[in-house]
Amino acid sequence: MAYDPNSQSNLDEVKTSHIHLNLAVDFVAKTLAGSAELDIEAIANNVSKLILDTSFIAIHSVTLGGAPLKYTLADRHEKYGSALTIELGKTLAKGDKAKVVIGYATTDECTACQWLAPSQTVGKKHPYLFTQCQAIHARSMVPCQDSPSIKLTYSADINAPLRAVMSAVATGEEKQANGTTTYKFHQKTRMPSYLIALAVGNLEGREIGPRSTVWTEPEVIEAAAWEFVDTESFIRTGEELLTPYDWGRYDLLVLPASFPYGGMENPCLTFVTPSLLAGDRSLVDVVAHEIAHSWMGNLVTTENWEHFWLNEGFTVFVERKILGRMQGKEHAEFSAIIGHKAMVESVEMYGKDHPFTALRPCLRGEDPDDAFSSIPYEKGFNLLYYLEKHLGGPEVFEPYVRAHVQEFAGRSINTDDWKAFLYSFMEKNFGQEKVDLLNKVDWEAWLAGTGMPPVENKFDDTLAKACNCLCKKWDHSRNVEKPTEFSPKDIEEFSPTQKVVFLERVSELDSLPHSHLELMDNLYGLSPVRNAEIKFRWHMICLKANYEKMYPAVAEFASTMGRMKFCRSLLRALYLAKNGAELARTTFKEHRAFYHPIAATMIAKDLGLAK
Ligand code: BES
Ligand code: ZN
Repeated sequence: MAYDPNSQSNLDEVKTSHIHLNLAVDFVAKTLAGSAELDIEAIANNVSKLILDTSFIAIHSVTLGGAPLKYTLADRHEKYGSALTIELGKTLAKGDKAKVVIGYATTDECTACQWLAPSQTVGKKHPYLFTQCQAIHARSMVPCQDSPSIKLTYSADINAPLRAVMSAVATGEEKQANGTTTYKFHQKTRMPSYLIALAVGNLEGREIGPRSTVWTEPEVIEAAAWEFVDTESFIRTGEELLTPYDWGRYDLLVLPASFPYGGMENPCLTFVTPSLLAGDRSLVDVVAHEIAHSWMGNLVTTENWEHFWLNEGFTVFVERKILGRMQGKEHAEFSAIIGHKAMVESVEMYGKDHPFTALRPCLRGEDPDDAFSSIPYEKGFNLLYYLEKHLGGPEVFEPYVRAHVQEFAGRSINTDDWKAFLYSFMEKNFGQEKVDLLNKVDWEAWLAGTGMPPVENKFDDTLAKACNCLCKKWDHSRNVEKPTEFSPKDIEEFSPTQKVVFLERVSELDSLPHSHLELMDNLYGLSPVRNAEIKFRWHMICLKANYEKMYPAVAEFASTMGRMKFCRSLLRALYLAKNGAELARTTFKEHRAFYHPIAATMIAKDLGLAK
């Protein structure tokens, strides 16, 4: 039976197999209004009620076969929303099915939706709506069993004044007399509620592969089509490693700047931040990551948010396998070095004894957004990387990873299911010798232990050497008033990723004198850089050094870039920097409407502004 501490639904009694959405997008009222039809099935006997998750939703009616049903909406749980209890008016026996139709509308407190004014888009002429449901925001957009343990197909009729796209295959559109259009969608592969996604705006599509279209506002379509040309090769490489791609289409949607994540693996339609449009294809590892989710997360899904690492750790592992095959092993290892640094920072941020630094944290009573960090990603990756080496390398481990997908595709699993299959696969295919090796793993420390992982993996540092070396030179020059040994040539041969790693190494040093930072900026042209990953590291160095001259540039970046990895980290660092707290708060308050509701909530907490 599925356990999910973050859902209020009666998951032990009922499961939803399909949802049909019939929604009108109203840009004036800023609501989605219409109905959700849920096909449910009893998974126990004597089931007389259906309890759904909702959050800030206005319920208008609930019916079964056209007849109204009694329902109550409970007082709001601060983190999990208002449980909607529906009396079915009869008792269902195990296996009985029913179709429940809920008439509803979202409200202006909906946390999944961001409604953008025309001024907040690239084109400045049309409004824009997009949703972000992971982890537990689907319930603010659709009354549903909002738990990844429930997997369903879905279909939708979306009536809108501008083009609508969803995490599903488009099946047609109908022009309406009032000038709007109804866009129809169908998702035939069963998936969890957190993958429901919708965007509506002035969108143009451009084909970039045999099963891929990139969607953006027309102003950036050219840049996007250029940046993401490698999409089909990523998918192919994923198929070589794992199983045939199951979702039909793989489209990309490049969102406005307020999109709070780097990418979101919405099936058939990955959402990405426009900050990936670096003009040099250097940030497309995010696309490889979201493609890897097509198997890890979207087919094989965590049962609840305590096992989030099964989604993200496995995805990072496959992402780096894809990169390794396409660009060479040293690139994959370089990415692992960057990931390691992100994990160290997350552990430092929470503190090494904090429960959220465990791979499998307890989330009873917690908001999964608060537990989000690089730890499930990188600790999970490091566990799999370690197991691969420990068990005998890719010849042993890659067949296992494929078998894991074959075994669990279409299901939701937890860490115990994962481990049991790992053991049984190794025993069946390689015998007792591998079981003995597995028995030597310190599972308790890996899965339950807090802080850094119990084993430190060694990564190939071919691409990191030059970065480390240049960093040391700067460190040694710190007491020289006007160092002369540096020049723009130092980084001429560096890839954008090597610039990132060089800056990360510098950020680990005790702060350099401001005059050194000024020199570094002038020689390496850091302040004018467009690449968001480089700019972000440079700004973090300046904040750590309390280099006040840069504060306005930080405020400008953090208020025009809604990806939390950048804006949240920068505002938090500015808040902690000398004389920075006031600027951090006023910047946030002034630009609050720019941020997606999820980002705004998190930043408010970081800056001590939460209610
Ligand atoms: N699924 C995540 C984003 C996410 C996680 C949203 C949890 C909400 C809750 C996505 O696949 C992701 O990991 N994005 C990363 C990409 C990076 C690891 C390459 C990001 O946004 O930075
Ligand atoms: Zn991910």
